Amino acid sequence: MIDKTSVQELRNVNKSFGPIDVVHDISLKVNAGEVLCLLGDNGAGKSTLIKTLAGVHKPTSGQIFMDGEEISFERPKDAQDRGISTVHQFGGTFPLMSIGRSFFVGVEPTRKIGPFKIFDRKTANETAVKAVQAMGITRIDNGDRLIGGLSGGERQSLAIARSVHFGARVLILDEPTAALGVKQASHVLRIVLEARKRGLAVIVITHQVTHAMAVGDHFAVLIRGALASLDMEVEGYMETHEGHPPPPTH
Ligand SMILES: Nc1ncnc2c1ncn2[C@@H]1O[C@H](COP(=O)(O)OP(=O)(O)OP(=O)(O)O)[C@@H](O)[C@H]1O
Ligand SMILES: [Mg+2]
Repeated sequence: MIDKTSVQELRNVNKSFGPIDVVHDISLKVNAGEVLCLLGDNGAGKSTLIKTLAGVHKPTSGQIFMDGEEISFERPKDAQDRGISTVHQFGGTFPLMSIGRSFFVGVEPTRKIGPFKIFDRKTANETAVKAVQAMGITRIDNGDRLIGGLSGGERQSLAIARSVHFGARVLILDEPTAALGVKQASHVLRIVLEARKRGLAVIVITHQVTHAMAVGDHFAVLIRGALASLDMEVEGYMETHEGHPPPPTH
């Protein structure tokens, strides 16, 4: 049984760039084993808000808590060290790297040959393939394949599996399905639910309300930087947005 306690919490967070107030007085919680969907039009401040959660931006004012303890991230690495993992639209991986190598970027397993330490390709490949298959991505069975040869959905799924494998507690996905076809999008949404099942707190930004409905436990709508609604009735929003997702601008 997963303990659905709050992992990360924002209290009265504001973020301005110079005179421009982009995120305005946001208070919200992300809970273990739940998916929070963040909706809102282009320029509403969604990406800025999650960058504040992930240590990319420092809030101009307000507080951030993890496990009830107030924290302050100086850089994204601080957030990563606390288990906050952001997966970007294209999976954030390098096309010319193999699956095994990209899975272990920065934490490469090594083996010794005489006095030399070399990258342990076999262990990396085996571990990466096992981790992605455990998330239900059975089409990836060879760690030597290059990232560039994977579909957009597979790259996303691989990046999510990597976050889960390395113990992420908060998984942030900024428009994970925006560039994907219907089948690939549903595949990624299934992996999102796998991450949720493993107890991660997941935040999904999406313009596609049907995707939000498919995975969300909670819904928040941002309008011009302010939280317009948390756990609102999404039907009204669906009627105005369904079928016409605006293109992302980031
Ligand atoms: N580093 C920055 N400096 C100045 N203004 C910024 C910066 N980052 C974002 N903004 C502004 O903040 C507003 C919100 O941008 P943000 O990218 O957070 O929106 P969004 O909700 O993610 O939009 P989209 O759905 O198009 O991705 C925009 O007006 C944007 O121009
Ligand atoms: Mg954005």
